[in-house]
Amino acid sequence: MQRVDQTATFLNEREQPEAILEASNIRKYFSGRQANLFSKPTFVHAVEDVSLALYPGKATALVGESGSGKSTIARLLARMYDPTQGELRFRGQAINLKKRRASVLREYRRHVQLIFQDPFSSLNPVHTIRHHLAGPLHVYRRIRTRAEEEEMLLALLRRVNLEPAEQFIDKYPHQLSGGQRQRIAIARALAVQPEVLLADEPVSMLDVSIRLDILNLLLSLKDEERLALLFITHDIASARYFAEETLVMYAGQLVEGGPSDAVIQQPKHPYTQLLISAAPNPARSNPDTEATPAPVELAARGEIPSLLNPPSGCRFHTRCPHAMPICKERFPGRTDLGDGHWTNCFLYSDRTEDK
Ligand SMILES: Nc1ncnc2c1ncn2[C@@H]1O[C@H](COP(=O)(O)OP(=O)(O)O)[C@@H](O)[C@H]1O
Ligand code: SF4
Ligand SMILES: [Mg+2]
Repeated sequence: MQRVDQTATFLNEREQPEAILEASNIRKYFSGRQANLFSKPTFVHAVEDVSLALYPGKATALVGESGSGKSTIARLLARMYDPTQGELRFRGQAINLKKRRASVLREYRRHVQLIFQDPFSSLNPVHTIRHHLAGPLHVYRRIRTRAEEEEMLLALLRRVNLEPAEQFIDKYPHQLSGGQRQRIAIARALAVQPEVLLADEPVSMLDVSIRLDILNLLLSLKDEERLALLFITHDIASARYFAEETLVMYAGQLVEGGPSDAVIQQPKHPYTQLLISAAPNPARSNPDTEATPAPVELAARGEIPSLLNPPSGCRFHTRCPHAMPICKERFPGRTDLGDGHWTNCFLYSDRTEDK
């Protein structure tokens, strides 16, 4: 299994801290269903005050249970949705989110590509692989001759390890396995030479036996093409192997983040601790982790709350074994735990006004 060298990357990041894509305090509220014409409008509070940054050549894992807002973040970053509030910056430049012109969005999406969970629905069954890959090549790259197109298409297929490439190029999606289709989806994203790849649970619908191959492909592309990779997963144990940084999300709020080793071996937020205790193969060999509360099954503490009317304050207070009266009143500030590790939890807050 390929394992990221976190020390090297963090040293490198200190030398080169320039983020390629940043989100600052973004919120996304979807309109909810109204009981009748005269009832008050309702909103799904899907993403609440989230800030994150992606760096060239670095993978960031975004983990959390289903319904925590991970896909909404990916769609916001890909500009499929407009944030209700907040700012996006690409290469340090604020993006004018009001510019929804097709040409502006197309140019942005050239740099920021999204890979979906379901490789079956992301390809059109009536078109060949050639058609799927040639489309973005024609839109974004200047191709002068058919021979040039052929050469580029074959190179893309080889890039995602679909060989012999000549045998895949004229196939239809239904002639490929799930893993091969996801490789085509990755090749299509690469066709436009992106700088950011947002992979939304890219292997969760694939056979277990091929998941590792696809993840290792994404990692090698990240390293070789210096891609900034957002790796979305509900499996926190895999984050440690595939991402230098891990961010933990609960019910629309980021609650913990930092170098993956620290977050996974010494989780501080009660939600991260419960997620790890519920993971099938958690990395809990570090003695520091043993000082944390005894693992309690997350499922036994109920489900993620409805985001139509989310709990006040720290949204985890309805399931948290350590909830205090203050937790219902407001969301805790971020506590810096050292070496880039942080959490939002009153248990670690040293500010007296937070207690
Ligand atoms: N287009 C939408 N309209 C209304 N609610 C949505 C929409 N997309 C997502 N949601 C809601 O936002 C919340 C977060 O969803 P999502 O981002 O898909 O979470 P995750 O990817 O972590 O499972 C959920 O409560 C979901 O029902
Ligand atoms: S802030 Fe309170 S409710 Fe939230 S995780 Fe920490 S102790 Fe639990
Ligand atoms: Mg999702």
